[in-house]
Amino acid sequence: MNMPLAHPMLHQWPVTPRDALPLALWTAAEIAAATGGTASADFQASGAEMDSRDVKSGDLFIALKGEAMDGHRFIPQAFEKGAVAAIVDRPVDYPHVLVADTTQALHDLAHAARDRAIEAVRIGITGSVGKTGMKEAIFACLDRASRGAAHRSVRSYNNHVGVPLSLARMPVRAKFGVFEMGMNHAGEIAPLAAHARPHVALITTIAPAHIENLGSLEAIADEKSQIFTGLVEGGVAIIPADSEWAERMIGHAKACGAKVVTFGRARTADVRLLDAIPAAGGGSLVTADLGDRRICYTIAEPGEHWIVNSLGVMAAVRAAGGDLASAGLALAEMGGLKGRGARHTIAAKGGTALLIDESYNANPASMRATLKALAATPAARRLAVLGSMKELGDFADAFHRQLAEPIAEAGVTHAILVGPEMAALAEELGKAATPSLGKPLTFAHCEGPAEAIVLLGQFGLAHGDAVLVKGSNSVGLGRLVSHFIENARA
Ligand SMILES: Nc1ncnc2c1ncn2[C@@H]1O[C@H](COP(=O)(O)OP(=O)(O)O)[C@@H](O)[C@H]1O
Ligand SMILES: [Mg+2]
Repeated sequence: MNMPLAHPMLHQWPVTPRDALPLALWTAAEIAAATGGTASADFQASGAEMDSRDVKSGDLFIALKGEAMDGHRFIPQAFEKGAVAAIVDRPVDYPHVLVADTTQALHDLAHAARDRAIEAVRIGITGSVGKTGMKEAIFACLDRASRGAAHRSVRSYNNHVGVPLSLARMPVRAKFGVFEMGMNHAGEIAPLAAHARPHVALITTIAPAHIENLGSLEAIADEKSQIFTGLVEGGVAIIPADSEWAERMIGHAKACGAKVVTFGRARTADVRLLDAIPAAGGGSLVTADLGDRRICYTIAEPGEHWIVNSLGVMAAVRAAGGDLASAGLALAEMGGLKGRGARHTIAAKGGTALLIDESYNANPASMRATLKALAATPAARRLAVLGSMKELGDFADAFHRQLAEPIAEAGVTHAILVGPEMAALAEELGKAATPSLGKPLTFAHCEGPAEAIVLLGQFGLAHGDAVLVKGSNSVGLGRLVSHFIENARA
């Protein structure tokens, strides 16, 4: 039998066999030491979880007290699902560590995880849009280079529970940790940054998301900049150069003693776009100037916003000491994320159609970005199912109306508007049945996803069509996406 031979040109990395690595994320003794609690038994946990529904075999269950729920109620379910132990504030008949306050214990565990993973470079990400996507991209880049030694927060675990939990899950041998940080109100970013103490802090964009609570874009820029207060000494702040608020954010970063790296199309950007040409399948071939060198890489994610996002990704990878060549390979391989640009081929009359799933999230900036990406997608007809953009407060009416123009510019011929906030856009589109810049537009307005499914069925998808589905998550357009993926398998 022929043995596979290593290619003579291939560098052999010293790899520690998986079995030789400690399995445990946390031992009972480590948790007790970190939290000042008392362990009822000796145990080893391979993961940490606070939602009993998500518990996997070997997990440590942290019984948190929320505003409405007390996690202690779900302890039996957590153990049924395979938890090995719980962190609790009262004794229970299961292996546990007893502490005074389980939220404080989560913070203690997060800080202990952060401080013991001495090799891990921590990257914090905030911004109005693109956090999860860029978090996934930076993770993919660093994980590829470090051969599986990068850690990240899962999903959008970006709040006062998600950030410490993500830290508490970081393996001691991690070389990189990538953490998303989000906010709904002023004052929320600084404590998250203090938990993570990032070496690199990235702001993706400043746009009107959560403007209802913050009041103005300046206030949003100021709040996002609070991430810099958590940077370690000598940490790097990565800032979108094309933002109207770039100077303001740079000011905040410098006030925190950060080194500043900007990214974007602007001539002043430290990581600057030189050229981008469309690649088959929707991505782009990007050339960027890093000041002392140029790099050229392919990104699989479609859309102009991803061209600029990728510059921020490269800036973060470089600042974290990651490998740019591996990063380029990772970006070329990264497909669309569920609800954030995943592309599905579905059956349609006479062949297949393309369904672009952006159902997770919507605000004025991301609506425009994805309509542009739709415009750049080769298609027989372009259809759009657009759901309400939530949390825009007093600005809601105007922001919905203003979508008329990007819809026309994208050459959309059929639009289904979903949710009460979309009534304003329906009215606007009704004023000019044929928008000046585009093709004739047929549109309908409805209240929810069930009606939208029927309407899209009535419009009918034909071979070569592309349909963009985008709205705030709570509109429920994910149901429409699942419906069409399941019922129209290509
Ligand atoms: N730089 C950007 N500018 C505008 N829209 C963007 C940008 N990056 C991503 N998006 C859009 O925002 C949506 C939400 O992305 P996501 O990464 O989930 O953001 P967040 O985690 O900040 O809520 C994506 O589906 C995409 O449409
Ligand atoms: Mg997110």
